[in-house]
Amino acid sequence: MRSLLHPVGPGDQAPDFALGDGGTGPARRLSDFRGSPVVLAFHPPHWDPARGEHVETYNRLIGSLPGLAGTRLLSIGDAGPWRKLTFADDAIALPVLTDDSGDVAALYGVEGSAAVFAIDADGIVRWRHSGAPESSPHPVDVARAITAVARPLIAGDDASRPEWTRREFVATALAAAFALAVLPRSAARAAPTPIADERLRPGRRRATSRVTLHVNGRDLALDLEPRVTLLDALREYAGLTGTKKGCDHGQCGACTVHVDGRRVLSCLTFALMQEGAQITTIEGIGSAEQLHPMQQAFIAHDGFQCGYCTPGQIMSAVAVTKEPWGAGDDDVREAMSGNICRCGAYPGIVAAVQTVRRSGGVQR
Ligand code: FES
Ligand code: FES
Repeated sequence: MRSLLHPVGPGDQAPDFALGDGGTGPARRLSDFRGSPVVLAFHPPHWDPARGEHVETYNRLIGSLPGLAGTRLLSIGDAGPWRKLTFADDAIALPVLTDDSGDVAALYGVEGSAAVFAIDADGIVRWRHSGAPESSPHPVDVARAITAVARPLIAGDDASRPEWTRREFVATALAAAFALAVLPRSAARAAPTPIADERLRPGRRRATSRVTLHVNGRDLALDLEPRVTLLDALREYAGLTGTKKGCDHGQCGACTVHVDGRRVLSCLTFALMQEGAQITTIEGIGSAEQLHPMQQAFIAHDGFQCGYCTPGQIMSAVAVTKEPWGAGDDDVREAMSGNICRCGAYPGIVAAVQTVRRSGGVQR
């Protein structure tokens, strides 16, 4: 197939093509799916879009979007280049193509790249992401794309696009989720990329500064606006989502991390001011194979229910073991009073902290 001079982008008619299913069935054309949105994903051979964690990635992204309540991706079925996404509501089923041969990638001008296209029911490309084989879009870019495409649906006031449908939106959100899931580990390292879709480009670009944050023993180079909090830098730019956002106002403690060994509320801390500091998050104190003693104690004493507050509780608790508090339970309650647990798991939390303190504290 020919390679286009200009890669296919938003607003272009998606070039038609035919692909077989590995020799056991007839070839199908993209145009066979006219009338239904299509997600076109070009991905590395080792990436399997049917893996459970990718399905969860889609569902987390989709579930966070207003206007999509009840939409859940149930499964990614079938083998071969044409798969089918099945959703819990509206009986939406989207075909998804994956191209191993590279022929279709050449047709779309994205040879050698990881790329994802959302194509609407009329065969028009609505959204695309492409990058180097080892790249995936930064989560912030994906969030921007989803938010931008969601806005007309949410506001219902996009007079310029009255034909925008829920199915198109779901397809676009899914495309973004695919793009995020192509190589999720690299998303934690990559800086946000310029927005490819002109509709998504802000009228005035905000000034950013390059900052290197030392997080969990690694240097992360990020381009951040001065107003970005350490919490958002960790979660949205570095992909470290273990640290939770509860109130975003310094009142709940869910966002607690350590900076130079001291506990801080990352929602009240500007990221740019932490260059050169040693930042530790919940991801940096233990691992699935070797839990931190405080994590083990929280498990042993049922120090959580839903778990949302738990990363902040544990980061605070680890700091408390190194702070000059009295020995009693009331001292622990006072020391931990900045960490709110809406599930009321306080007795277990106090017991866990006391267990670790009485064992001599923690060395890491
Ligand atoms: Fe930071 Fe609540 S999110 S204190
Ligand atoms: Fe649910 Fe604390 S365990 S908020």
